[in-house]
Amino acid sequence: MPASTRPMAEAVPTPDTLAIYVHWPFCRSLCPYCDFNSHVSEQVDHARWRAAFVSELDHYAEIAGPRRITSIFFGGGTPSLMAPETAAAVIDAIADRFTLDAHIEITLEANPTSTEATRLAAFADAGVNRVSLGVQALDDEALKFLGRTHSAADTLSAIQLAAETFQRYSFDLIYARPGQSVIQWQDELAQAIALSRGHLSLYQLTIEQGTPFFMAQARGDLDMPDEGVSAALFETTQDMMTAAGIPAYEISNHAAPGQECRHNMAYWHYRDYIGIGPGAHGRITADGNIHATRQHRAPEIWLRRVEGRGHATQTDEPLDTQSVIAELAVMGLRITDGITANNFRARAGVTLDEVIEPAVVKRLQEAELIVYDSAGLRATPAGLQRLDAVIAALFA
Ligand SMILES: C[S@@+](CC[C@H](N)C(=O)[O-])C[C@H]1O[C@@H](n2cnc3c(N)ncnc32)[C@H](O)[C@@H]1O
Ligand code: SF4
Repeated sequence: MPASTRPMAEAVPTPDTLAIYVHWPFCRSLCPYCDFNSHVSEQVDHARWRAAFVSELDHYAEIAGPRRITSIFFGGGTPSLMAPETAAAVIDAIADRFTLDAHIEITLEANPTSTEATRLAAFADAGVNRVSLGVQALDDEALKFLGRTHSAADTLSAIQLAAETFQRYSFDLIYARPGQSVIQWQDELAQAIALSRGHLSLYQLTIEQGTPFFMAQARGDLDMPDEGVSAALFETTQDMMTAAGIPAYEISNHAAPGQECRHNMAYWHYRDYIGIGPGAHGRITADGNIHATRQHRAPEIWLRRVEGRGHATQTDEPLDTQSVIAELAVMGLRITDGITANNFRARAGVTLDEVIEPAVVKRLQEAELIVYDSAGLRATPAGLQRLDAVIAALFA
């Protein structure tokens, strides 16, 4: 860690827990909507990557000090293309360097192609105990439009295998696709609910800059749903998920009570996490400051840097109080529980009362966009739909 300039108003106590994110940057092919750090590579030397992950873990284990690990998340890219031995080596290395929580959650993102589905058991043997499948859609035409390489039939077999292999599994769907009507989405979502076990991630299609879909939209080739249809699709989603007993706990994430993704909750509760692998981010408390870290994004450069000096950290900056407050707001208000007063005080070193204007709170409460009480601050369902404006008003 660089010498700290002590930018926080007061020293932040080091938490005793830690979450760990591991980024696998490779995919079989690239999907036209995706702007994640994903790359196609014919040749991946799995043994080199395995050793590099363990090196970077060593680097951050030294910085973080003794901690209890509550979750590990293998994300991507497509981590189901990783050799299961790599997941095993990373999990074993984490167990050697830290204490594992008795209820540790270890999630792997997987694509539902037939080859990857057959490897789920090997990942379970490696220690993975939860899988998140990138289903995206349940019909062949939509899958083709989204550039996916799996069919609806592959998807159903992968979900079945996941259900047989893991107690906890989730899958992602992308809705608000061009031409999708509320009735079509209701049918698809009803099918998804029937296939689910306590957790679903339901994302509205967003057009990310620099993606093929962005170019298609600029040419006028994508007939995206207008604001009214998007709002109707969002409301239908909330209603159906609540009725199914899997309500939203975050804008796009839905869980039966107790089935929330613990790893993502660590981000939204603004807990410490380390990120290893190309482009991974971390937030680590050390020397009384919360440090924002980021690893080099390009896979080959990342690998060479780790092999050369043990890690490929590109940024490591202590955050000042204003930045911590902004991050607490953006992360915490996404979840239905919101920001707790105690956590805000512990992480920012100031109280919510000291930061937010009573007149703004009153206005937003009267508009039924937020609730602010002794427990903390949270957005109402209406507030969640206008979250950017709510955050801007409160924390400007
Ligand atoms: C890291 S990505 C996917 C991991 C895995 N490679 C896959 O494709 O299933 C995580 C999820 O983000 C969602 N996602 C990615 N880009 C999106 C976009 N532009 N709009 C909506 N959802 C998106 C997808 O549902 C995806 O499964
Ligand atoms: S959606 Fe998944 S498979 Fe497609 S490019 Fe992104 S990370 Fe890769």
